[in-house]
Amino acid sequence: MRNRFNNITSKEWLPFQKSWFIDQGDEATYRSNLRFFLRLDGSLPQNIYYLGDDIGKKAIKKVAKSLNIKVFYPESKRKIPELQLILIDIRRQESCLSLTAYQKLKKEIFQIAQKLYPNLIHRRFLAIMHQNTLYRGKYLPYAWDMSQMLGTGLSARDEKIGCYDTFASAKKYAPFAQATYYISYFRKDENSLGNFSIPEIDFFKNIQLEKNQFKAETPNWQIFRPKKRNKKEILHPAKFPEQIAQFFIERFTKPKNNVFDPMSGTGSTQLAALQIGRNGYGTELSSFFIDIAHTRLATFAETLPQKIKHKLLLKDARKITKRDFPPIDYLFTSPPYWDMLNMKGAENQATRKAKGLQLNYSDDTHDLGNISDYEQFVDELCSIYAKLAQKMKSGAYLTIIVKNIKKKGKSYPLAYDLGWKLQEHFALLPEFFWLQDDLRLAPYGYGYTFVSNTFHQYCLTFRKK
Ligand SMILES: C[S@@+](CC[C@H](N)C(=O)[O-])C[C@H]1O[C@@H](n2cnc3c(N)ncnc32)[C@H](O)[C@@H]1O
Repeated sequence: MRNRFNNITSKEWLPFQKSWFIDQGDEATYRSNLRFFLRLDGSLPQNIYYLGDDIGKKAIKKVAKSLNIKVFYPESKRKIPELQLILIDIRRQESCLSLTAYQKLKKEIFQIAQKLYPNLIHRRFLAIMHQNTLYRGKYLPYAWDMSQMLGTGLSARDEKIGCYDTFASAKKYAPFAQATYYISYFRKDENSLGNFSIPEIDFFKNIQLEKNQFKAETPNWQIFRPKKRNKKEILHPAKFPEQIAQFFIERFTKPKNNVFDPMSGTGSTQLAALQIGRNGYGTELSSFFIDIAHTRLATFAETLPQKIKHKLLLKDARKITKRDFPPIDYLFTSPPYWDMLNMKGAENQATRKAKGLQLNYSDDTHDLGNISDYEQFVDELCSIYAKLAQKMKSGAYLTIIVKNIKKKGKSYPLAYDLGWKLQEHFALLPEFFWLQDDLRLAPYGYGYTFVSNTFHQYCLTFRKK
């Protein structure tokens, strides 16, 4: 197949498709992105625009020289020509920015994006490297907010997560909270008009954390390699590994605390809770999955040394009442990722179909995975968590495993949407990434455009106000 996008081979294309990477310094990151997003065969003008700090500038100059391309900067006096890529790197500036200073920076980026829109070649990208940050004890999702703004004028397409592999190098870049940053990708295409605006969404309205709430001592990412699932477990299309549940339960609870999951699937949360001496409670809509969960829990419960309790009810999570369960110390859960399992071409679906496995959770109309309208899905999901907040003890935590969704070439930032909508009821804590490296990469979009393999899952944590 001819590669019209960047004239690299499929062998080079594949590794770039993974949605996360270990940071190897500015030069390496710039180089891999330039190599992917530029066509360097002379058929397009060899120009890019770069906005970054002095450290970044040094790196981009080196890379540009070796690839023989021209870089234009905000201070360039020359007239800006047609551009193959706009690259913005504001990680270091953002890492210690007050909200007021951030709003100023956002305005600046807004103006740059608007001004450069006509220069960007059709179907070419703007890539922004940025991060969420912690400022005076408040967790501020600057990257999510900036992405919402850029998505008004360009098509939001994808994201990659850069991970610093030592906490020391993370501190250099993100002294307050994060050992990760985002590269968010936007495309000029038939769905974008260049009419940038500041969306109504206010990510910062309800942020009310006490000072020094966080002591970031460990990086906010980890690679989990789940055990092979047994015959029963594999019947569920989206089970998460108990390892992850345990990792979080240990962080946010004490022995004998009540852990709850309103969408229990095969009972992974409860099993993980019991294994480390916590009580495991929850509900699940599908009788098929709850049977699997009951069997798993019963087998394990027999071996329990102490009297740890568990209870799973076959129930729509919207209908949980006060009497069903005792108060919750920690809620750990993962919802359906909208109606993605009903999409024929979704990642993973072909393999399951070939094995004759169930593709979606159920055909039940109460199943949140069967709501086709995105806004309605998000609202219903949020109202389940909001209602459960009333059952949570004050100061209790909630962790949601979720990912941003790509559907038919459009991006739906489910993680960001939960991040801001739930702030009405909860305070947001730094996000954590569960990274996957045990899945086979697929050359999505080869020769045509960038479509990553989403191998990072958000673990969003909130604290009940
Ligand atoms: C991502 S899966 C959870 C998987 C589970 N964590 C595990 O490891 O097996 C989401 C689950 O939500 C359930 N679900 C969907 N709508 C629901 C509802 N209204 N009430 C309760 N459960 C629901 C689905 O049946 C599915 O099992």
